[in-house]
Amino acid sequence: MAVERTLSIIKPDAVGNNVIGQIYTRFEAAGLKVVAARMAHLTEKEAGGFYEVHRARPFFKDLVGFMISGPVMIQVLEGENAVAKHRDIMGATDPKKAAPGTIRADFAASIDENAVHGSDSAENAAVEISYFFRATELCPRTR
Ligand code: TYD
Repeated sequence: MAVERTLSIIKPDAVGNNVIGQIYTRFEAAGLKVVAARMAHLTEKEAGGFYEVHRARPFFKDLVGFMISGPVMIQVLEGENAVAKHRDIMGATDPKKAAPGTIRADFAASIDENAVHGSDSAENAAVEISYFFRATELCPRTR
């Protein structure tokens, strides 16, 4: 299976709940390796640009407001089948529908404050990674 990269964001609710380490442990347990990471407090423009595809959706304004309500932890994860694997361990968008043991089931309170973001395809992962990181900021893992 191909080694892929995906863009992960630990959202302001989870950062505020002080569970960055617990979520990183889930990544590591799934065999996903951190190859870049940065904490940031996004501006409205940065968060809106990131969620550009959702601009016409009714929840867009609240989503951006939430994403700028506090710092986020942004990372690139690398591993075999990383995009799908990361989506699996995140769980469904709505934590009420997320499978037991997933990050959202364990750490998210609601669909609009749902702890984590993960790219939904390899193509979108490439776009999202380049939105936050320069190529020189990625550290491929050799072991
Ligand atoms: P989406 O891309 O559908 O979900 P996912 O994050 O699982 O890929 O939506 C992006 C974010 O928008 C989602 O994580 C939370 C927010 N959102 C809402 O606040 N309300 C909603 O009804 C939906 C569908 C999403």
